[in-house]
Amino acid sequence: MELKIYQTREEVAKNFAAYFKQFVSERTVAHIALSGGSTPKIVFEELASNYSDQINWGNIHLYWGDERCVPPTDTESNYKMTKDFLLSKIIIPEQNIHRIRGENEPGDEAKAYSLLLEENLPIVNGIPQFDLVILGLGDDGHTASIFPHQIELWNAPEHCVVAQHPETGQNRVSITGSVINGAMEVTFLVTGYGKAPKVEEIINKTGQFKDYPGSLVAPESGNLIWFLDQAAAGRLKL
Ligand code: 6PG
Repeated sequence: MELKIYQTREEVAKNFAAYFKQFVSERTVAHIALSGGSTPKIVFEELASNYSDQINWGNIHLYWGDERCVPPTDTESNYKMTKDFLLSKIIIPEQNIHRIRGENEPGDEAKAYSLLLEENLPIVNGIPQFDLVILGLGDDGHTASIFPHQIELWNAPEHCVVAQHPETGQNRVSITGSVINGAMEVTFLVTGYGKAPKVEEIINKTGQFKDYPGSLVAPESGNLIWFLDQAAAGRLKL
């Protein structure tokens, strides 16, 4: 595991974008799972403003690690956020964008997206393998859309499941632990003071860390990188 800690969230975005460019330039094709949340949003802005012509987007296939079960035009949609801040500003073939269809019946969509992953990604030990999975961490320790109250979904045999947000009950479609930990590389993008307690518990393995889905992220490849700002990293004992 590697920790990269920057002073501000803007620096996290800049450095992550540079890492992203390097990562994709080393590959002919890269299958990448994106996440929702506030940190990816500024990363997308950075990629759109400074890398639109620096990256061969035609070599990149974009997927989502999770999606809220809402139409793609809804302000809650992770796809819409990505479209507004990145996809509408770069040149990428339509067929390289593989969104989770939040408007569909959730159970049907979880099955359909599992199949889509099987068809598009190499299968390693029975699991579709992403080159890169980008994750966020919720203030409650959730990651993708596997929340603490449904932590057992992490180990579901399916590649994708339907989960519920603990407060709103909103349905989400999320990839599961085997897909996350089967990826060639996994990155956490985590910024802000609200994240500091869970970041400390998860990385230092203290307190209730076992209750948080974020603590189960441990790619078999060993390639896990945390991109943190000082606010999120402030309680770490290094
Ligand atoms: C989602 C996300 C989720 C997110 C975290 C962190 O769709 O809800 O994929 O897992 O990454 O909640 O979000 P913030 O960066 O906004 O704190």
